[in-house]
Amino acid sequence: MIKSPRGTRDLLPPDTALWNFVEAAVRDVFRAYNFHEIRTPIFESTELFARGVGEDTDIVSKEMFTWEDRGRAESDKGQSLTLRPENTAGVVRAYIEHKLWDRGLNKLFYIGPQFRRERPQKGRYRQFYQIGAEIIGPAAAGSQSPARDAEILELLATLLDRVGITDWMLELNSVGCPADRAKFDEALRQALAPVVGKMCTDCQRRAVTNPLRVFDCKVPEDQPIIDTLPTINQFLDEACRTHYEEVKNILNAVGVPFVENPRLVRGLDYYRLTTFEFTHGALGAQNAILGGGRYDGLSEALGGPAAPGIGFAIGEDRLVLSLAASAESVVRKPDVYIAPLGAGMNREAARLARELRRHDLVVDLGDESFRLKKSFEAADKMGSRYILIVGENEVAADAFALKHLASGEQVTVPRGELAQRILPK
Ligand code: HAM
Repeated sequence: MIKSPRGTRDLLPPDTALWNFVEAAVRDVFRAYNFHEIRTPIFESTELFARGVGEDTDIVSKEMFTWEDRGRAESDKGQSLTLRPENTAGVVRAYIEHKLWDRGLNKLFYIGPQFRRERPQKGRYRQFYQIGAEIIGPAAAGSQSPARDAEILELLATLLDRVGITDWMLELNSVGCPADRAKFDEALRQALAPVVGKMCTDCQRRAVTNPLRVFDCKVPEDQPIIDTLPTINQFLDEACRTHYEEVKNILNAVGVPFVENPRLVRGLDYYRLTTFEFTHGALGAQNAILGGGRYDGLSEALGGPAAPGIGFAIGEDRLVLSLAASAESVVRKPDVYIAPLGAGMNREAARLARELRRHDLVVDLGDESFRLKKSFEAADKMGSRYILIVGENEVAADAFALKHLASGEQVTVPRGELAQRILPK
């Protein structure tokens, strides 16, 4: 038997109803905040992620699905391509490619699959889905303002409440600007020098190439050492500190609770100033339901103009796992199941189904070869509210037996009144 590849899965009904419920709700929220949808390719040139996300990150160094293009055209040959592991780099690439700065402040959202070759476990997949959003534009349009950071965080609080997730925790930090980072890197190198020999080989490499990435280490034995390292908040300059304070002030003003976590540096290299994660207890080890932050400087790193930005990505798989609502509660069951009874009745059933569906009713139907008992069982199994019997006598009278399955009440209804009768009150 051929199975879906490791770390991928089929999303089946009724669970897909929950996914659609979530996506419809988040689209409503994005609309209220004036975000518009962007759809970028599922694969991009590998260089985009190497430069955008960073060579030393786990994502780029270990987790990408990368291949060399075998295209016939000379220009394609040997080009290295990668299934997108995240979508911020792609959005910023599109921003530069289409000169989106002409539109001022861009508020863009996306929903779609991402790919990382991680060890699969609950809440961690190799193909997973993100719901993300980015605010990006020239500084003159206000993109660098702490008000944007707070707007994004307040949107997220609203969005989670809206889909019915209440017990989330917002963890907040600032990783400062490049000058702060340089000082912090130096302090980390010094602090690591005497102890790094006792750490994992990844950390030994990180200590040399990009010491901040030591904070991404998941090896349990290394954690006591990491706990003793300096934290970035001691190195923030005046401007970064002010930015961070203002984000917190607005969050307090709008009533979005948060806790500060000075070790939250996030696993991607493009972050500047604000970083954040929302966690949820029900998820277990993979408890980050979403993450994000500011990435001023990413556009320049990708060859574009200065374009401060901030955004987030929600792990949609994890969001669905944390939902209290069950798929059964959001799935729309059939309003009526049409049971054609006897030869020639499929035609009549099809006509009726067509009429009723025009009234936005959910209609399913059986087959004229079914005995009545079989139709009743089918209607019951799919949770239909009514069953409608279409036999020769009914067709002749142009009035049909309609039975409410829960109460057992049965009435004969003329064709023209059926839709009104069946519509949910
Ligand atoms: P990230 O923290 O790498 O950030 O991913 C965001 C979220 O995607 C995570 O919090 C998690 O919920 C989900 N996620 C990540 N990997 C997996 C996986 N293997 N299986 C299931 N869910 C996963 C980013 O991707 C940034 N682009 C976010 C961002 C947008 N920053 C600024 N703008």
